Amino acid sequence: MTQLAGRTAFVTGGANGVGLGLARALLAEGCKVAIADVREDSIEAALKLLENQHVMGVPLDVASRESFAQAADRVEAELGPVSLLFNNAGVNLFQTIDDSSYDDWDWLLGVNLHGVINGVTTFVPRMKERGLGGHVCNTASMAAFLCNGAPGIYNTTKFAVRGLSESLRYSLAAHGIGVSMLCPGLVKSQIYASDAIRPEALKAGAKEVNTEFVSNLEKLHQAGMEPEVIAARTLEAIQENRFYIFSHPEFQDELAEVFDEVLADFREYPEDPGLADRLQIEAGRRASYKKAREAANAL
Ligand code: NAI
Repeated sequence: MTQLAGRTAFVTGGANGVGLGLARALLAEGCKVAIADVREDSIEAALKLLENQHVMGVPLDVASRESFAQAADRVEAELGPVSLLFNNAGVNLFQTIDDSSYDDWDWLLGVNLHGVINGVTTFVPRMKERGLGGHVCNTASMAAFLCNGAPGIYNTTKFAVRGLSESLRYSLAAHGIGVSMLCPGLVKSQIYASDAIRPEALKAGAKEVNTEFVSNLEKLHQAGMEPEVIAARTLEAIQENRFYIFSHPEFQDELAEVFDEVLADFREYPEDPGLADRLQIEAGRRASYKKAREAANAL
C-alpha cells in the first residue's frame, strides 16, 4: 500500500500528541483527515492550528461502540470512505496491578483496548466491502514488549493490542488491507495528564492523584520524541507495509536482551508420549503461519 494521497484517514486521539502529528503528516501527503477525540477543546485548537479545509473534528469517546459508529457515519458523509484507520487514542495510569481497582481496569481497557476493537469493528467491515484496500495502524507502545510492575494495566492493554494487530494483519491481507503497529518510546505529549479525562462513572475506584508525580511525568515527557518525527516514520513504514513501527531505535538492544531471556527459559526434556504426533501437527501449523506472514508482507 503505497498510495496515501486522496484517501480519507480517521485518527483517534488526533487532537494532541502522536495523533496530531499523524493528522498533520497525513494532510501533507494529500489525505483528508478526521480528528476524533474526547477533548473537544483540543479538537478546536487542533483545527485552528492545522488550518486546512481537508480536516474535520469529531467528538468521540473511543470506548463507546455506539458513538464510534455515529462518528464513522458523520465522517464518511463529509470526507468520503475511510480507508486509513489510526487507532491511536490512549491513556496511562502509573500503578501496579495489585494496587488497582475494577474502575482502573475498566477505564484503561475501555480506551486502550476496546477503543482499538471498536475502531476495527466499526471500520474494517466497511473497508472490506468497498474493496479499496487501505491500512489500519494501531498505536501500541514499547510497553507492548517491555514490562515492569507499574504501569501494569497499561502493559496489559498494549500487549493485547499487539496480539490483536498481528492477527488482524494476517486476516486482512486477503482483502488488500495492511496492518501496522506503532510502538513509540517516550513522546513529547500530554499523556501524563490522562487523569483529567477519566470518566466520572469510573472515578469511585480511583486513587487520589499524586500531583507531584504527575508534574515529574510532565517534565519527563518534555524529553520525548516530537510527534512530527514519529508521524514521518509511521507513514514511511505504512508505505513500506511494515508491521512493527519502532519509531525509537534506542530500544533495539533492550528488546534483544528481553528476547534472549525469553528463549533462555526453554529447557531440553526427555521425550514425552505424543511428541512425535505433536511435531507433525506443529510442522503443518508452522508452515501455515509462515505462509500467512509471507502473504501479509507481500501486500
Ligand atoms: P496525548 O494525551 O498527548 O494524546 C492522546 C489523545 O487521546 C488526547 O488528545 C486525548 O484526549 C485522547 N483520548 C484519550 N482518551 C480518549 C477516548 N476515550 N476517546 C477519544 N480520545 C481519547 O498522548 P500521546 O502520547 O499522544 O498518546 C497517543 C498514543 O501513544 C496512546 O495510545 C499512548 O498509549 C501511546 N504512547 C505514548 C507514549 C508517550 O510517551 N506519550 C509512549 C508510547 C505509546
